[in-house]
Amino acid sequence: MANLKVTILHDVWEEDNVPEPEPVKVVSAKKGKRRRKKKDPLHDREEIFEALTKLGHEPSYHVLDGKNQSLLALAKCGADLIFNLTESYAGDDTMDKNIAAYLDLLHIPYTGGGPQALYLAQDKSLAKKIFDFHKIKTPDFATSYKGRTDHSHDIEFPLIVKPVSEDGSIGIDNGSVVESVKELMERIHYIHEEFDSPALIEEFIEGREIYAAILGNDNPEVLPLIELDLSKLPKGTPRIAGQDVKFFRDSEAYKVTKSAVAEDLDEETTKKLQGTARAAYRALKLRDYGRIDMRLNKKGEVYVIEANPNPWLASGAEFAMAAKKAEYSYTQMIDKIVELARARGM
Ligand SMILES: Nc1ncnc2c1ncn2[C@@H]1O[C@H](COP(=O)(O)OP(=O)(O)O)[C@@H](O)[C@H]1O
Ligand SMILES: [Mg+2]
Repeated sequence: MANLKVTILHDVWEEDNVPEPEPVKVVSAKKGKRRRKKKDPLHDREEIFEALTKLGHEPSYHVLDGKNQSLLALAKCGADLIFNLTESYAGDDTMDKNIAAYLDLLHIPYTGGGPQALYLAQDKSLAKKIFDFHKIKTPDFATSYKGRTDHSHDIEFPLIVKPVSEDGSIGIDNGSVVESVKELMERIHYIHEEFDSPALIEEFIEGREIYAAILGNDNPEVLPLIELDLSKLPKGTPRIAGQDVKFFRDSEAYKVTKSAVAEDLDEETTKKLQGTARAAYRALKLRDYGRIDMRLNKKGEVYVIEANPNPWLASGAEFAMAAKKAEYSYTQMIDKIVELARARGM
């Protein structure tokens, strides 16, 4: 394996530290967009940098800060490969697909999803329609934007209401699960007001929360399944991975929930979960690595909740946890992702 100049690409955007708009062109963040709050202040990029160094590559960082100069400099960065950790551009997290498309134009190979996967997975409503076509089970749903309904199954309460295209559990809290028309209407209104986004209204699937980490392209490998145990959440609160569970370290919800390898699943259920995850990964054109979030109900039915291209790679996060169980060291996991991207080329 040849040594590669690997540029770790990430974005920064501090809303309260916005640089002067002149003479540099700054693209303003979309109204209502919320910056993602990471669970761990230690970014995965430092761990990835260290792993790349161990592998004999030449890592460096490049930051996209929302200014045109940072895009121009990227074109000249001289990388053999980009490790793409960007999640937004200028605070707009729907722009990750444009960054991937820009790298395509520059003919620089990069890790993870292309613009297609980033687009398809971000629009949860579109993703669900594609799942439906492929007979991949996903909760029945409706979408509503300011009184217009784009699509609706004949759905039944309880329902969960989410922004159609956020991640990091943005907009998901104890008020998301609704039991009545009144609560539903109020929550749809809240999503419109807060995020200027259509509301995705889904049947709430009571059950276990299972994540499948996947590595590969032609024959993707589903790593051992991880479960986020939500059973100890305070009584009377819905069993969901809201923002508090994911990021708010001081909250009760954060403290009583944890992810671990799901050891007690029987063979048939494991196969069903893995097969469903692999199908979802392929249907949305994910590449190199990804994570599929699912729910498993008491009847043993598997529902795909969402697909995540380029999931978080911190050593404590679910993806690395699954890789470790499959006996990849952290460094081997990063090596595999780099090699997959390199072999795929453009
Ligand atoms: N239809 C659903 N049924 C049950 N729980 C759900 C459903 N949709 C979302 N959730 C809960 O909310 C969490 C976040 O939803 P998700 O769509 O994955 O948003 P994000 O993209 O922000 O991670 C899920 O991990 C799950 O716990
Ligand atoms: Mg999720």
